[in-house]
Amino acid sequence: MRRFVWIAILVAAALQAQQGGQATLPDGPGKAVFEKACTGCHGLENVVRVRMTKERWGTVVDDMVSRGASATDAEIDQIIAYLAANFGPPKPKQLAKESRKP
Ligand code: HEC
Repeated sequence: MRRFVWIAILVAAALQAQQGGQATLPDGPGKAVFEKACTGCHGLENVVRVRMTKERWGTVVDDMVSRGASATDAEIDQIIAYLAANFGPPKPKQLAKESRKP
């Protein structure tokens, strides 16, 4: 029984390693623009690891534009809306769980 548990853990770890580096993005309006405008300099996995309010995403996207990200104003609005909708602040329950992490 113990051995079975270890095998299960190893298989899970291997599967996770395989997915590593590839951010899975939820579908939604703005996804394509986001992928186009935000992959030039860094991977998206670093971007979608964070959770922010719409205002903070707006600041980040402005910052990226000042670093050289190119997108039209309309595209920028779409990107911010996409990020805020899918990577907004965690709900209170999630927050409690996450804040326990080191
Ligand atoms: C011209 C290159 C470039 C493009 C295009 C770009 N970024 Fe960045 N981004 C950077 C650099 C450089 C950093 C690292 C900044 C640092 O370490 O201070 C960064 C870091 C980030 C971070 C982490 C911020 C932090 O404070 O640690 C986020 C989130 C981010 N980018 C989001 C985006 C989004 C969203 C887009 C698309 C609108 C985008 N980036 C497009 C250059 C770019």
